[in-house]
Amino acid sequence: MYNYTLTTDFDRKNLIQKALDNISHAYAPYSHFHVSAAVLMSDGKVYTGVNVENASYPAGICAERNAIFHAIAQDKAAKLVAVAIVGGADGKIQDYCAPCGVCRQVMREFGNPQEITVIMAKSTTDYQEMTLGELLPMSFGPEFLT
Ligand code: THU
Repeated sequence: MYNYTLTTDFDRKNLIQKALDNISHAYAPYSHFHVSAAVLMSDGKVYTGVNVENASYPAGICAERNAIFHAIAQDKAAKLVAVAIVGGADGKIQDYCAPCGVCRQVMREFGNPQEITVIMAKSTTDYQEMTLGELLPMSFGPEFLT
C-alpha cells in the first residue's frame, strides 16, 4: 500500500505534466510569479497545488506546501516520494524553479530526505532532479523530537 517509488521515466513525466496542467490556477496577483507543484505519495496517489497569495503578503502560501498539505490532509500516513515544480513570471516557464527553504523543511517532515526526489522542470523532457537531502543538508526533522 505505502511502497510506491519513483522508478520510471513515465512517473516523472506524469508528475511534471500534472504540475504543468495546473499552473493557470496559480493566484499570484502581487508577485505575478506563478508556481505549480505535483506530489507523488507512497500510496501512488498524486496531489497538486499552486501558490495562493494574499493582500496581507505573509498569509500567502507556496505551491509545494499547498500540494503537500493537500496530500497529508487525505492520508497522514502516506510518505512523500517525489515533488515536481514548475514556475515562472506570469506563468511562462523559462527556468528551473527551486523550492524555497520553508517548503524544503515541510518536505523534510514527510519522508527520508535521501529518498525524496525533487524535480525542477521546464517541460516534461527538460528537468533537473535532486534529492531533498542534497537541497537541505544536515536538516532537523521529526526524529529529533521523539
Ligand atoms: N513560490 C512558490 O510557490 N514556490 C516556490 O518554490 C518559490 C516561491 C511563490 C511564493 C510567492 O507566491 C511567489 O512564488 C513569489 O515568491
